[in-house]
Amino acid sequence: MGRETWGTRIGFILAAVGSAVGLGNIWRFPFQVGQEGGAAFMVMYLAFVLLIGFPAMLAEFVVGRKTGLNAVGAIREFAGGVWQYLGGLFVLIGFVILSYYSVIGGWVLRYVVGSATGGYVGDAAQGEPPVAAQFFAEIASGWDALLFHAIFMLLVVGIVAFGIQRGIEIGVKVMVPAIFVIFGVLSVYAFSLPGAGEAYAYYLSPNFEYIVANWQSLVPAAAGQGFFTLSLGMGVMITYASYLGSDENLAIDGTSIVVLNTSVSVLTGLIVFPILFTAGLDPETSGPGALFISVADALGSLPFGRVVGTLFFATVAIAALSSAISLIEVVVSYAIDEFGMDRARATVIVGAGIFLLGVPVTVDTVFVDLYDMLAAQILLVLGGILLMVAITWLHADEAVEELREGIGDLGAVGTLWIWMVRIPVVAVLIVSLYLGVTGYL
Ligand code: PHE
Ligand code: NA
Repeated sequence: MGRETWGTRIGFILAAVGSAVGLGNIWRFPFQVGQEGGAAFMVMYLAFVLLIGFPAMLAEFVVGRKTGLNAVGAIREFAGGVWQYLGGLFVLIGFVILSYYSVIGGWVLRYVVGSATGGYVGDAAQGEPPVAAQFFAEIASGWDALLFHAIFMLLVVGIVAFGIQRGIEIGVKVMVPAIFVIFGVLSVYAFSLPGAGEAYAYYLSPNFEYIVANWQSLVPAAAGQGFFTLSLGMGVMITYASYLGSDENLAIDGTSIVVLNTSVSVLTGLIVFPILFTAGLDPETSGPGALFISVADALGSLPFGRVVGTLFFATVAIAALSSAISLIEVVVSYAIDEFGMDRARATVIVGAGIFLLGVPVTVDTVFVDLYDMLAAQILLVLGGILLMVAITWLHADEAVEELREGIGDLGAVGTLWIWMVRIPVVAVLIVSLYLGVTGYL
């Protein structure tokens, strides 16, 4: 099989950024911050992204580029033996995450319509932004939620069935600049609000006593968010790196991706929290509705609120779609390779299965928390642990050799990277998984 490669170096970075930047930054991040004590979570999250996420991302890149295979095939070839079953876990994770991710993506699509028409709930003519209770009752669950979940999955299936590469590259080239421009404008607006000062204190100045007292929930939350936001732990970055040539400097690419992705999260917080505080809404109880309730609230008072709102949610929709594509691609490429299905057929069948798994989430929003915790705090972290052990404990030499390609002599850095992942990263992830499981039960 002749494999495609990325047209340009920037094509790979953009696709990886497209996968990373998504609802994880814009929807999940603010509500995690809200539920885990504000700036205390920020500190943990930033530390995890840097010290655990970045080295783990390099490990996935190495496996993908070395084998040039989809996630399931790559891990089978790279590690062999029982490790081949790890690919099955990746497929399962893709299924679970996309099933509820698509429901949230549906809320976003619903908001594109709501912003454009001024009607978020009920009677469009009212034009009132929804309050929390209304949001959960009328948008987040019920027929609207089901309908827009279906539309979101149809878009994903449509794009993936027709071949992804050009779609992703174009989508991301529009999305990334758009995010920075629109979010930049909104963060300046948020800065001008009376609640901004209080919000910044909450969001940006950590209370270390809080961290010490609450580390048992902060650690698994930050680990889960770190993996979720960087699309790690289920083979997405393996897949995307499999299309790379060996002249690529993986360390530089990884750094760009982490920096861009983190900037989007930080920027989102700078928008959402001043709005919540100004509106007198509690970030903790707003939960998964925080983004939707706060931004809709702000749009009512903004000049050109409809235009800005439509652009904002359309951009979020593109961000969500480019991540959803990477999620379904792990499952679809597996179905193609293992069952010999053609792409269109595989995509439709997988898409239908994922849609069905997401239906309970549209019935009651308790399933959002249930699926989300299971996926981010348990499954991705488990996938990450197994992957890191397979790479750095069992195949360290091959890994370092592959990382060196396109960079040159690494000196002690290669060894440092391996040992960093072998002991501290794996240990912290095991603790996170333990705390995540005990917290879930
Ligand atoms: N990183 C994506 C986001 O933040 C979600 C995702 C997770 C995508 C895992 C792929 C794999 O929205
Ligand atoms: Na992300």
